[in-house]
Amino acid sequence: MTDGTHDSRLDTADRYVFDRAWEREHERLAALEAVYDGVTLDRLAGLGVAEGWRCLEVGCGAGSVARWLAGRVGATGSVEAIDLDPRFADGHGLPNLTVRRQDVLTDPLPADAYDLVHARALLEHLPAREEALHRLVTATRPGGWVMVEDFDIEGAMAAAVARYWPVGHGELADRLYAALQAAFGNAGGYAGCGRWLPDALADAGLAEVGALVHAPVLPGGTPFLVLTLRQLRTPLLATGRITAQELDATVELIQRQEVRYMPNFMVTAWGRRPSRPDRRTGARTPG
Ligand SMILES: C[S@@+](CC[C@H](N)C(=O)[O-])C[C@H]1O[C@@H](n2cnc3c(N)ncnc32)[C@H](O)[C@@H]1O
Repeated sequence: MTDGTHDSRLDTADRYVFDRAWEREHERLAALEAVYDGVTLDRLAGLGVAEGWRCLEVGCGAGSVARWLAGRVGATGSVEAIDLDPRFADGHGLPNLTVRRQDVLTDPLPADAYDLVHARALLEHLPAREEALHRLVTATRPGGWVMVEDFDIEGAMAAAVARYWPVGHGELADRLYAALQAAFGNAGGYAGCGRWLPDALADAGLAEVGALVHAPVLPGGTPFLVLTLRQLRTPLLATGRITAQELDATVELIQRQEVRYMPNFMVTAWGRRPSRPDRRTGARTPG
């Protein structure tokens, strides 16, 4: 909501908790990338993304992961980046990167097509996350990799996040994370989604499933959570779990240069689509 009279969340059929039309949304997405890209890109490199791969980046946001993939796969590879709102990833000038508007839940995706399908901070927003994950898996070629990443700030994990807030402010953090959980839920999202990912990948038929849980501790003044709380002010207050004064105090606190705090736990999970057995011998073809 930008002016108190228009809520662009209502313009689309989806119930995304963030307002895509917020004037600082591009800046907020870039701030998210600045915090999380390090682990994401390390893990993608660890999966072996290399020259010639065909990749799909889903819910590409401001596009840093898509641009990194395009550099990695080179001229013989290709990257397709899709988002309901692809404006912020456009204009990259890279010949092997295509950016387009596409809904992961309703628009067609090719089957058995990609060496890698990646989505970060997407499934946690989708009420139909199981269906979305199924679509990502189906789009991956046999032998290819799926990597998905989502936050886990539910229950005990929210309490653990609060432990890494400045001494004396744990209660404020507890209130904030209760409000964030409720705001995600009210919009059809799931603040504990990260916890769900490893089993969901295995249940979707993937092999070699692995996961890691990571949690950055940020210096005060880091823009990501500040911008996120500004953007979510209306839905957070609507939960009744935090007051306007408490929210203002939180935003003021995490901008102080001398503090450190943890914004959330991020779960990075990956799995490989089994290769097809050879019809004659029953042996699995290499990926
Ligand atoms: C929180 S942002 C994360 C952006 C990026 N993946 C990152 O981690 O830097 C979620 C993105 O998913 C997009 N999105 C939400 N629902 C979608 C859908 N049904 N299909 C495609 N993209 C969607 C949003 O527009 C937004 O750009």
